[in-house]
Amino acid sequence: MLKVGLVGWRGMVGSVLMQRMQEEQDFRDIEPTFFSTSQVGIEGPVVNGKTTGELKDAFDLEQLADQDVIITCQGGDYTKAVHDALREQGWTGYWIDAASTMRMRDDAAIILDPVNRALIDRRLEEGRRTFVGGNCTVSLMLMGLGGLFEKGWIEWMTSMTYQAASGAGARHMKELLNQMGYLHDAVAEGLNDPAQSMLDIDRDVTAALRSDAMPTEQFGYPLAGSLLPWIDSQLENGQSREEWKGGAETNKILGYAPNTVPVDGLCVRIGNMRCHAQAFTIKLKKDIPLADIEAAIRDYTPWTKLVPNDKEATLQDLTPTAVAGTLTVPVGRLRKLNMGGEYLSAFSVGDQLLWGAAEPLRRMLRVIAD
Ligand code: HSE
Repeated sequence: MLKVGLVGWRGMVGSVLMQRMQEEQDFRDIEPTFFSTSQVGIEGPVVNGKTTGELKDAFDLEQLADQDVIITCQGGDYTKAVHDALREQGWTGYWIDAASTMRMRDDAAIILDPVNRALIDRRLEEGRRTFVGGNCTVSLMLMGLGGLFEKGWIEWMTSMTYQAASGAGARHMKELLNQMGYLHDAVAEGLNDPAQSMLDIDRDVTAALRSDAMPTEQFGYPLAGSLLPWIDSQLENGQSREEWKGGAETNKILGYAPNTVPVDGLCVRIGNMRCHAQAFTIKLKKDIPLADIEAAIRDYTPWTKLVPNDKEATLQDLTPTAVAGTLTVPVGRLRKLNMGGEYLSAFSVGDQLLWGAAEPLRRMLRVIAD
C-alpha cells in the first residue's frame, strides 16, 4: 500500500480535501500519516472510522522521506522550506502540492486530470515526481471550456473574473460576512421604517463603507457592498499576478509552448463565498457554428454542464448559489458577439475549493495509486 504523508490537512483547502477523500473512500487504498507544523505528538484524525496514530513533525525530513507520496495544502512557505531539501537528500517520492510556488518549474507538472491526463501520464513516464494543482480560475475555466481548446478552435481569449472570498482564505470569508453584518446593522432601523427614504439609507450605507469601524483587517478594504479589482501582487507590466497566471498556466496545463493561446483579462474579487465566476470573450480561429460549440462543451467532462442561453436557465443554474459545494461546472451565456461570427461570449461558475483547489490533488493521488 502506498505510504502517503498529509501536510496542511486542517486548513480550509486541506479540510475540503479530507472531506472529499473520505467521501470517495481514498483512504481505503493508502497508508496515511498525518504531519503537523504545530501540534506534533497529539492524536491524528479518525478517517473512515480508523485512527491514524500520532501527528508527526512536518519539518522532519527523515519521517517525510519515509513516504511514497506527500500531499500538502500547507502553503508556499512550507513548500519552499521543505521540498528542495527533501529532494537534495535523495527522496524520489511523489510530491502533490496545492501551493503555487512550484507550478511553473520545468520539473513540475500542473495537474487537472479531466483536462490533461495524457500530459500527466507522459510526465509520470518521464519520471517526474512533482505535481502541483493549478490556479483556481484557470482550472475552473479549463473544466468548462477545455473542449474548445481540445478542438483547437481558440485563437485567443479574455477572462474577466468575479472571484470569491474563499480564494483569499478562511479569515477573509469570515470578514466578508462581518462586513455584510456591519452594513446591515448600520441601516437596520431605517430599513424597517417605511418613512425612511432609500436615498437616506443609501447615504448611511456609503458612510458605513467608508467608516473606520468597517471590518477590513483581512482584505484591507470593504468588499461587501463593493468590489476589489486587484487580486495578488502587482507585476511590472500592469498585470496582477492572478491575471498573469491565466495565460501562463493555461498553456502549461495544455502542454503548449508559452503564449501559444494568449489568455488575459482582469481579475476582480466580489462578495461571494466560494465560487469563482468568469466572463469570457473568445476569439475563434474561424466562424464555428454555435451548435458545434455547444456540443464540444456539453460532452467535455462528466462535470461540465451546458446551460442554455435563456434567462430562466441562466439565473437558475449559472450562479454561485447553484454551484457552491458541488463539482458541477456550468457554462452558459454562449452566443456570438456583434463583432462577428468568430467572437464568442461565455460565462462559467465553479466551486473554488473543489475543482479550484482540493479535487485535482486527491485525483492525482488516485492516478498514482491505481
Ligand atoms: N488566487 C486565487 C484567489 C485562489 O485569490 O482567488 C487560489 O488559486
